[in-house]
Amino acid sequence: MSRLVIVSNRVAAITEGKPLAGGLAVGVYDALKEKGGIWFGWSGDIVDALPAAPDSRQEGKVTFCTVGLTRRDYDQYYRGFSNATLWPTFHYRDDLSRFERKEYAGYRRVNAWLAETLKPLLQPDDLIWVHDYHLLPFGEACRAAGLRNRIGFFLHIPFPSAQVLMTVPPHQELVKAMCAYDLVGFQTEPDRTAFTDYLVRNAGGQIDADGLVHAHGQTLRTGVYPIGIYPDEILAQAEMQANRRHILNLKQGLQNRKLIMSVDRLDYSKGMLERFRAFERLLEMAPNHQGHVSFIQVAPPSRSDVQNYQTIRRQLETEAGHINGRFSDLAWTPLRYINKRYERHVLMSLFRASQVGFVTPLRDGMNLVAKEYVAAQPPEDPGVLVLSCFAGAAQELQGALIVNPYDIDGMAEALNQALAMPREARQERYQNMMRSLRENNLSQWRDRFLHDLRADAARTPYLLSAATTLP
Ligand code: G6P
Repeated sequence: MSRLVIVSNRVAAITEGKPLAGGLAVGVYDALKEKGGIWFGWSGDIVDALPAAPDSRQEGKVTFCTVGLTRRDYDQYYRGFSNATLWPTFHYRDDLSRFERKEYAGYRRVNAWLAETLKPLLQPDDLIWVHDYHLLPFGEACRAAGLRNRIGFFLHIPFPSAQVLMTVPPHQELVKAMCAYDLVGFQTEPDRTAFTDYLVRNAGGQIDADGLVHAHGQTLRTGVYPIGIYPDEILAQAEMQANRRHILNLKQGLQNRKLIMSVDRLDYSKGMLERFRAFERLLEMAPNHQGHVSFIQVAPPSRSDVQNYQTIRRQLETEAGHINGRFSDLAWTPLRYINKRYERHVLMSLFRASQVGFVTPLRDGMNLVAKEYVAAQPPEDPGVLVLSCFAGAAQELQGALIVNPYDIDGMAEALNQALAMPREARQERYQNMMRSLRENNLSQWRDRFLHDLRADAARTPYLLSAATTLP
């Protein structure tokens, strides 16, 4: 069986025997360990000059190959075009997006350089799996470097509808570059449809009876692969941590108050400002909760050298201060807003100790926190998930209370409903969601994608990936 080569902007720091930080890292690393292969990407370091070859480190059958980036590359490729243009636009925040030709040129240059740097490490039958928006043109760059391997791409974030995408000036070049992949995978059907609609309506593309897309002189397969988690491992982890000191301290501090929990990277796409306001609205409209409910928002800072992230941070600080100033008393602080990063097992036990998981992004590719919240619940007395309809996870987690994150009153009502929900109704919703988490766990996500990537171009796509056929 061919080797697997994973390419992503960040390469997970993995040491054999130590727990892994995140879902994606676990899923991808499992596949690499089994089949052997390479994980290639940016080391996270800024260097004076680009290296001639990557640094490599072996863990069992897996080779981690990483490269540093120069300050100019980091500014143009990562901080600039990836995170100040593509990220906001793909999350439907074209109002926050800016475009600089210089940065776009840097983005293309780094993609081309990464492809050239990977090339000498490859064998002809390696299967290459590229991840996320930093690397949209990586496949095309590989083809330009003469590589003929099968190359698949998975987008972890939303793919915007055409009118929004077109606010990025080089939209045509970007979508054309994506057509160089053999397989392009998305989190949800609306994301996939946005991509194929763009190709059909704006690039003369066609979809044939097998669901293959023909555009820009290329033939590619598209598919929907909602990323999952390992729910039973999370359940076991949360159970094991239930009596640890930090949880006992938390419970003691809460003094039987109910707990609403949120955990997000500090990002404007996560809808935290609207969430804070919904909590405030809850305390206004149902004053019986004053003194009896606490809300913990954990939000570790992220991309803090990008302007929009500095702005949202200031706004959240103001809003949190306003709510606490207005409602706190000597014995109760309604909102605890924490800019700290906690280990996963701590977060899982916090989820388990709370009555409501409040996950309301304005737009999100999937949102694994929503899935982890459900998995961490005690089956006999589970909490309720309040989930944004604009998170990819809402397509699967029908047992959640689904809210519109732009509707502050609606979110406050959902919180009220969640806090009062009887145990039986909570159990029913929980079981329904656990079933779907088990049916589509992390290995299924990975195996479906790799199955389709290996499949002959003419074969029918596997499971979720059947596309609509044009007349
Ligand atoms: C999102 C993206 C990932 C990215 C992560 C952390 O989940 O989809 O590709 O790695 O955010 O962001 P950062 O900019 O710190 O890598």
